[in-house]
Amino acid sequence: MVADLQGLKKGKLRITIVTTAKYFVPSLLGTFCKRFPGVEASLNVTNREQALIRLEENLDDLYVLGQPPEDLHVESQPFLDNPLVALAPVDHPLADEKNITLERFSEEPFLVREAGSGTRKVVKRLFDEHGLELNVRMELGSNEAIKQAVIGGLGVSILSRHALHHEPRATKICILDVQGFPILRQWYVVYPVGRQLTIIARTFLEFLHQSEH
Ligand code: PGA
Repeated sequence: MVADLQGLKKGKLRITIVTTAKYFVPSLLGTFCKRFPGVEASLNVTNREQALIRLEENLDDLYVLGQPPEDLHVESQPFLDNPLVALAPVDHPLADEKNITLERFSEEPFLVREAGSGTRKVVKRLFDEHGLELNVRMELGSNEAIKQAVIGGLGVSILSRHALHHEPRATKICILDVQGFPILRQWYVVYPVGRQLTIIARTFLEFLHQSEH
C-alpha cells in the first residue's frame, strides 16, 4: 500500500482473454506496463470455454470476454465495441452484392470455430434464431486459421472485425453486406463478484475504460 501511495505500483497482474481480444489487449497491456514498470503481467489467451473454467476457479485478476457468463456470479463492464462481420475472399460471387439475405449466405460453405469458442456460439445462435442450418465445410481452431482458409477460398465465415486488424493480407478478404450485419457486440472486462481486486487490477480496469482503442 505504501508503494501504491508513492505511485510505484508493484506486483502481479493476471489476465485471461478470449482469442479475439489478443488483437488489442496485448498492446494496451504494453502501454500499461510502461506506465507502471513494477507490474509483472501475465496474459493467458484461450477460448471462451477455457476462460470460463479459469474464471470459475478464480485463477486470474481479470477476464476479457465477448459476453459475460450467464451462470456465474460476476461483475462485468463493457469497454469496447466488438462488431462481428461476414467474410469471404475478395473474388467471391457475393463480394459485390448488396443486402444479401442470411438465407443466401447460409448456402455458402462455412468455416466455423472449434467447440468452446464464443464466436461459434454467437454464430450458432444467429442461425438457430432464423431457423437456418450452418453449411459447415470445416472446423478450425483459431481466427488466424479461419482467415487463411477464407483467403484460400475454402468458404465464408463470421469473425470479430478485430480479427482483421493489422492483417497484411486483409485486401484478400472482403466484408460481405449481409442483412443484420455487423452483429453488434461489446467487449467486457469481467471478474468474480466478491473477488478483492488488487490495486493494480483496479488501475488496469480504469485504464481500459480510459484508453483510446
Ligand atoms: P472466442 O471468443 O475466442 O472463444 O471465439 C470470442 C468471443 O467470445 O467473442
